[in-house]
Amino acid sequence: MYDFDFCPDRTGTYSVKYDALKEHYGRKDLIPLWVADMEFASAPCIREALLKNVDNGVYGYFVEPEQYKESIASWLREKQGWDVHKQWITYSPAVLRGMSFVFSHFTRPGDKILVQPPVYTPFIELPRNNGLVTVFNPLLRHDSEIYNDGGHICRAHQAYSFDFEGFERVTAENDIKMMILCNPHNPGGIRWSREDLVRLAEMCWERKILVISDEIHADLHLWGEKHIPFATVCPHAAEISITFGAPSKTFNMPGLSSAFCIIPNPALRKDFFRYLTVNEFNWPMITTSVATIAAYTHGDPWRVECLKYIEGNVAFVQEYFSERVPSIRVIRPDASYLLWLDCRRYAQEKLGIAEGNMDEGLFRHFTDDLRIALNRGGQFGPGGEGFMRMNVACPRKMLLEALGRISDISTLA
Ligand SMILES: Cc1ncc(COP(=O)(O)O)c(C=O)c1O
Repeated sequence: MYDFDFCPDRTGTYSVKYDALKEHYGRKDLIPLWVADMEFASAPCIREALLKNVDNGVYGYFVEPEQYKESIASWLREKQGWDVHKQWITYSPAVLRGMSFVFSHFTRPGDKILVQPPVYTPFIELPRNNGLVTVFNPLLRHDSEIYNDGGHICRAHQAYSFDFEGFERVTAENDIKMMILCNPHNPGGIRWSREDLVRLAEMCWERKILVISDEIHADLHLWGEKHIPFATVCPHAAEISITFGAPSKTFNMPGLSSAFCIIPNPALRKDFFRYLTVNEFNWPMITTSVATIAAYTHGDPWRVECLKYIEGNVAFVQEYFSERVPSIRVIRPDASYLLWLDCRRYAQEKLGIAEGNMDEGLFRHFTDDLRIALNRGGQFGPGGEGFMRMNVACPRKMLLEALGRISDISTLA
């Protein structure tokens, strides 16, 4: 019903993905498979709701629509099985800005924040920019799964796991105030099991560590998997968690500043929500409100079809590499559209790049030789070197062009 093969032309629309290429890659002539937004036009119901609300030309002050939080709560109940009361929800201009508000309110300069790299770069930088100390407890990577040959498709949750022993060690050595959990995890699109989330929650609760759970990719689970909200896994998880969610990734509207924050624990919630209110940080724009309501009320058929298309793209890229460039291993994401490519063998065998130089070597190769903009693994912190991140939320023909450049074969056999 929706045509994901056709995408609007975004050149000159002030999109980061196209218009900031030069700044980030030093050149513009690249196939842009980097920033995490989709090439697809958002669900038509969102466009219609936006047009309806801007058409009369009056952009005055407005009140937050009743349905705004209702639509979020119903969505979370239906899609994620999470019974959220409306009072637990507050608007946040974006997930990262919301995290900065959390840091401002709950931490003091020098406080330590635990993150699990390789992880979304701002989790490393944002605490530092706020005068905090980022402490690493890297994920465990299971190379035996990634390099298990014989038709085996390595899923993200098989390739990586939490390092609970590392967690014990790091928290014994450091007074950790908070951790940022990425659920599901970017990069890789890793889904965490209920069992592991419970174990993590109990370990954090015993140590009085607050957990910021970033669930922005929650509604993009692939292959029929269901999202498990961290706050739902046990009573202690609800007690110590501050969850961020958004329709922005799911419905491709991150330019509309549409995130929200959920805090079930009244003691944590009270002062923080007051701080947001008195500073006027929690006031959604009219465009945000109507787009969110439309997405969560009428957008699901679009989301379901979009996920099918993305699954097709993931499978397509995976088959392509396994047939033509087997030295690049695709770790199959459990969720979302950001493929985590293990390029270590490719770097060594094809490019003759030694360990230690891979991050820069691969980046230069993809950018200057192949003219494809991917995210370099090293930007995600320890464990990222030798990997590249590829955004596959785009028409298949765009992928085909990029893959053809990698394999030197520009048409399908
Ligand atoms: C895990 C994660 N969190 C947050 C963001 C950014 O969210 P926002 O634009 O709402 O700050 C992204 C964007 O890629 C992301 O992948």
